[in-house]
Amino acid sequence: MSYNNILSATQNGITTITINRPSKLNALNKETIQELHEGFKAANKDKNTKVIILTGSGEKAFVAGADISEFANFSVDNGGKLAAKGQELLFDFVEKLGTPVIAAVNGFALGGGLELAMACHFRIASDTAKMGLPEVSLGVIPGYGGTQRLPQLVGKGRAMEMIMTAGMIDAETAKNYGLVNHVTTQEELIPLAEKIAGKMMRNSSVAIAKAIKAVNANYAADKNGYKVEIKQFGKCFGTEDFKEGTTAFLEKRKADFPGK
Ligand code: COA
Repeated sequence: MSYNNILSATQNGITTITINRPSKLNALNKETIQELHEGFKAANKDKNTKVIILTGSGEKAFVAGADISEFANFSVDNGGKLAAKGQELLFDFVEKLGTPVIAAVNGFALGGGLELAMACHFRIASDTAKMGLPEVSLGVIPGYGGTQRLPQLVGKGRAMEMIMTAGMIDAETAKNYGLVNHVTTQEELIPLAEKIAGKMMRNSSVAIAKAIKAVNANYAADKNGYKVEIKQFGKCFGTEDFKEGTTAFLEKRKADFPGK
């Protein structure tokens, strides 16, 4: 598939999706959101993809936010629809994806950019990265899940301060806050993401997808996470991966998961 605003490449079980609008610091316009939806959907369906890495092109930005030029003239109705559609197409979609998604934050992750990184299953960052939710400096609030996911990750007080000051934090602070798991150099960022992906790929992809569902249920108001865990745990017993994993353990060999 060909895209105007993203790049997607698959190698050794990893699909790397790169947001590619460097002249606009990879800002998320409507077309980019749609293409990211298509790119994630395709990677999730692809049997050769075990892990997805999301990053931004260039050294300056992961994503500098939603494209401000697109919504500057919006009405109340348009604004609500923009948030609803974006959340459905991209942010919720990524969070619920069965294939694990690592955000490799390579520079500015602001507004919708940080919201996108937070929708990924976890984040790593380069030491040059800067993160923040500057929306109130524009007279709006985060609309792509930021008011919900930031407090989940860093706690309510820190989230309130970040949102109300509209300030940026550096990568080390983000690590101290638990917003990113690891910080490394710009050069080592993708190799580190690939190294972590490699550790994940040794495991059952079917079990990982079920674990994502169970962990996410903890944050869904309409779900009981413990009940979802019980159901997903039970379902594992019907998979070929479970048979292979337990048999391999008992036979003292490495599991070779069929991913079924
Ligand atoms: N939407 C649309 N365009 C954006 C953008 C965004 N969120 N962020 C950056 N750009 C564009 C700029 O308009 C500029 O385009 P131009 O060259 O055609 O004028 C280009 O990207 C480069 O950005 P610039 O501001 O010149 O870079 P900088 O190094 O001076 O500043 C930032 C970098 C990230 C601090 C600054 O771009 C910024 O504050 N961006 C907006 C962040 C934001 O508020 N995001 C939340 C949106 S809800």
